[in-house]
Amino acid sequence: MDKLKIGIVGCGAIGSSLAKVIVKEFSKEAKLGGLYDLDKKKTKDLSKKLSGSSLAMDNLKQLINKSELVVEAASAKVSWDIAKYALASGKDIMIMSVGGVANRLKQLTALAKKNGGRVYIPSGALCGIDAVKAASVGKIKKVTLTTTKHPLSFKGVKFVEDKRIKLSGIKKDTLLFSGTAREAVKFFPQNINVAAVLGLAGVGVNNTYVRIIASPKATKNIHEVRVEAEAGNISTRTENILHPDNPKTSFLAVLSAIATLKQILQPVKIGT
Ligand SMILES: NC(=O)c1ccc[n+]([C@@H]2O[C@H](COP(=O)([O-])OP(=O)(O)OC[C@H]3O[C@@H](n4cnc5c(N)ncnc54)[C@H](O)[C@@H]3O)[C@@H](O)[C@H]2O)c1
Repeated sequence: MDKLKIGIVGCGAIGSSLAKVIVKEFSKEAKLGGLYDLDKKKTKDLSKKLSGSSLAMDNLKQLINKSELVVEAASAKVSWDIAKYALASGKDIMIMSVGGVANRLKQLTALAKKNGGRVYIPSGALCGIDAVKAASVGKIKKVTLTTTKHPLSFKGVKFVEDKRIKLSGIKKDTLLFSGTAREAVKFFPQNINVAAVLGLAGVGVNNTYVRIIASPKATKNIHEVRVEAEAGNISTRTENILHPDNPKTSFLAVLSAIATLKQILQPVKIGT
């Protein structure tokens, strides 16, 4: 069987880890088609580290042309455009910046069907997505996500700045936001991809409720999910270690992308 050609957009914490794993651990089943980052130095450095400099692409078009599966690990601002472009070019896409496609499920499905492509959205930094998917085959009454992070994780978030919240002055657990997952991904685009994944897997982003808490005691990113469903109640709690290269990203999110890739490449699929 031919090796699957994988192209990576975004050579940050997630993109670099995936690229390394593809070269080191999945070399029998897959190979890198190319790497592309807005930051040319990042693209070149990673490319050199992995295989001379032949993998560095100058633009998105080139990257997509060289790939069968495109991995988006760049930004919620561009994930929908990248997905659209990849699918329209007949390629498969794995999306990490899920906030950018949170309300695009219908369009993604239509584009994938029209062009014979596949869309992969890893569970990311959240456990329980398997059960939420299964429960949503029946009836789900309510889905709530409570995310707790250290105040400084919200540095640079416009919503927090607009509300003039002084993050360094937070001395006790403080509710920063409560609303729908759709609003959460809009206001916290880099912090709350998990809300988008949870919405897409269950009852949609308009019907999934999110609370975001800044806690000065938090040393991990904690996500608690509570689902009330016809099939029973589901409660999960994920305590995420932060990725050393990007403290906004949980280490589990990187591993989740790798596990999704493994599912794509291997014949046996475990879990819902
Ligand atoms: N699904 C999840 O659970 C989950 C978890 C963590 C992070 N994420 C998301 O995944 C994405 C990648 O995360 P990361 O930790 O690797 O981030 P990162 O900041 O370490 O890396 C992102 C890279 O993408 C590049 N980039 C930005 N815009 C680009 C564009 N238009 N074209 C090409 N490159 C571009 C940046 O230069 C940077 O090198 C982020 O959007 C993040 O919010 C998702």
